[in-house]
Amino acid sequence: MIYKLCHGAPCWCGSRKSYSDCHESFDRKISALKKQGFKVPPKKIIKNEEQLKGIRESCKINIEVLDRVSEKVVPGISTGEINELVHELTTGMGAIPAPLNYNGFPYSVCTSVNDQVCHGFPSKDVILKDGDIINVDCSTIYKGYFSDSSRMFTVGKVSPEAKKLVDVTKECIYKGLEKVIPYRPLGDMSQAVQNHAVKSGYSVVREIGGHGVGLKFHEEPFVSYVIPKGTGMVMAPGMVFTIEPMINMGKPDVYIDGNNDWEVYTMDGSLSAQWEIMVLVTEEGNEVLCY
Ligand code: MF3
Ligand code: CO
Repeated sequence: MIYKLCHGAPCWCGSRKSYSDCHESFDRKISALKKQGFKVPPKKIIKNEEQLKGIRESCKINIEVLDRVSEKVVPGISTGEINELVHELTTGMGAIPAPLNYNGFPYSVCTSVNDQVCHGFPSKDVILKDGDIINVDCSTIYKGYFSDSSRMFTVGKVSPEAKKLVDVTKECIYKGLEKVIPYRPLGDMSQAVQNHAVKSGYSVVREIGGHGVGLKFHEEPFVSYVIPKGTGMVMAPGMVFTIEPMINMGKPDVYIDGNNDWEVYTMDGSLSAQWEIMVLVTEEGNEVLCY
């Protein structure tokens, strides 16, 4: 209680600024929203400037790795080679590939081809060919800070249908991003993503989604793309999370490969696409940290 009254006390966010100059008005807005029944973020997921500086450095590496990968995704390359490339580039920049050994994940990157939805295992035996679509999901740990983003690549000459799925999935992300508005709930973003996918005749994977990120690989909140607008956790300034919908050309149902308990496929064998960006909520709106 004393803490609350003491406006000159240091802020809880670790900024070393006084509470009144830092998060006092933030706290007032958040408690008002909580009283209205909104789910509000725990303080531990609100990043301060120093943490954001570290997260930005990590993101810079992650972006660079994906930029370099993009030059190599052509017919004939194996996903195993993409894994090696990501590993070499990341460690070469003094960072650690976050997927490696994460909950037992055995590779440095996820490569998900065609009807693979996510968490695909790179392999020297998976050789990309004309017409494939692939998601390369890259995550980096740098000085203890986490970054995470993924991109789709079309291999050689792809069908117009596959190209459209890839393009619309990217559009979904930016439709969602427009709704990343401070002090509004996450569902506003989710609904925008889902609407755009459904309008194009696609479906949105329900079981897997995005997540808070930065101080850990996966933090609160779980970011769904199938919850309605007006629901879900309030997006508060200082929160960092991913927008990474998985969009299927056919039905939304997926299954996990029982041989490894990781690789996820569409149940009906239809193509699936995913893009992932990392977003910071600001007092003014949002900022894309990683793509
Ligand atoms: N980059 C994936 C994500 O977006 C990470 C999956 S967990 C891993 O959450 F172990 F496969 F890396
Ligand atoms: Co992610």
